[in-house]
Amino acid sequence: MKLVERLDPFEPGRFLGEFWQRRPCLIGDWLTPEPFSLGELLETAGRDGLPSRLITGQQERADWTLQHGPLDEDDLPGNGQDWTVLVQEMDKASRAAEIILDAFRQFLPDWMLDDIMISHAMPGGSVGAHVDAYDVFLIQAAGTRRWQLAEEFDPAPDRRFEMALLKNWQPQTELLVAPGELLYLPPGIAHHGVATDECQTWSVGLRTPTGPEMMFFLAESLAMRADAGGRLKVVHPDSQTPSRISPALARQARDLMKAALELDDNDLQSLLAQFLTRWRLWPREAMAGDQRSIADQLQKERTVRLDSAARLALFGSGDNTSLVINGEEIDCPATLAQELARTRILSTVWLDYPDALEQLMESGAIGDY
Ligand code: SIN
Ligand code: CO
Repeated sequence: MKLVERLDPFEPGRFLGEFWQRRPCLIGDWLTPEPFSLGELLETAGRDGLPSRLITGQQERADWTLQHGPLDEDDLPGNGQDWTVLVQEMDKASRAAEIILDAFRQFLPDWMLDDIMISHAMPGGSVGAHVDAYDVFLIQAAGTRRWQLAEEFDPAPDRRFEMALLKNWQPQTELLVAPGELLYLPPGIAHHGVATDECQTWSVGLRTPTGPEMMFFLAESLAMRADAGGRLKVVHPDSQTPSRISPALARQARDLMKAALELDDNDLQSLLAQFLTRWRLWPREAMAGDQRSIADQLQKERTVRLDSAARLALFGSGDNTSLVINGEEIDCPATLAQELARTRILSTVWLDYPDALEQLMESGAIGDY
């Protein structure tokens, strides 16, 4: 594996052309989030019910332990070393974290963005060597972390621990990541990050579904249609063993499933947009009924922005662009769809489309404003 190349300053076009989903890179001079204190992290996780974990010890010493939150300061070991606190979904609770996520929305699909997980580690703290199935940007907010990486590795899992760690870890390259730097890793690059001093890392994860995950949703939607297609026909049951599934029956089933998936482009894009904007939706109460107050805010020209958890997708082009948020297709003009995807802020023009505004409310897309 080659040394990790640098990309300073960050150029989205170069990043997408040379590194995205291909190879790691170290980016400087771009994102510099203000770190949270450990107390603020734990308090935010407790207040907003965010998933949190405490990992102590080291995989190499086999004294590794995992404790799930909620956590408070009394749960943390007093020795000041070899532990990490991880808090997921921080972008749903902190505007500062949401702003960092917004930087990625400028050049990557909104519906791929998972969350910002913040890990706060004492010297020696680590989550262990592992591999992720998704892209991750590891932003060093404070302190330094030493990352070991491997492109070719033994995938055998270390069954001694609850988390999916690699048993025979052999790094191929190593680098130090300092505050103000960010390490990008495409899916499939094994990694092991160890804090060299007290440090904080913000990870932005992006995820896409597998074929079966998409089929699961498509099947559910298509099965509810009136024209869901024909049923399997048992043409020549075998009178000796009538319950046997014959190869001919399996062939017929395959053809029936293929025919069900033959959707025109617009239909498939619409279904995909619905699925991709809701398959990992962070649960929020739909705010139906509050439309009056949103309209009041817009009339007073106050900023109304999409909730940080809302995920959107566009499909179609030009005047035929459609907007889907949190799985709901919103009946609004193409210009409003494009503007909302770009800014995530509702302009006063939305006041002319009360039905679309209500759809937005019901999709849970507007939270704190
Ligand atoms: C960490 O920030 O400690 C771990 C993040 C990762 O490996 O994806
Ligand atoms: Co990882």
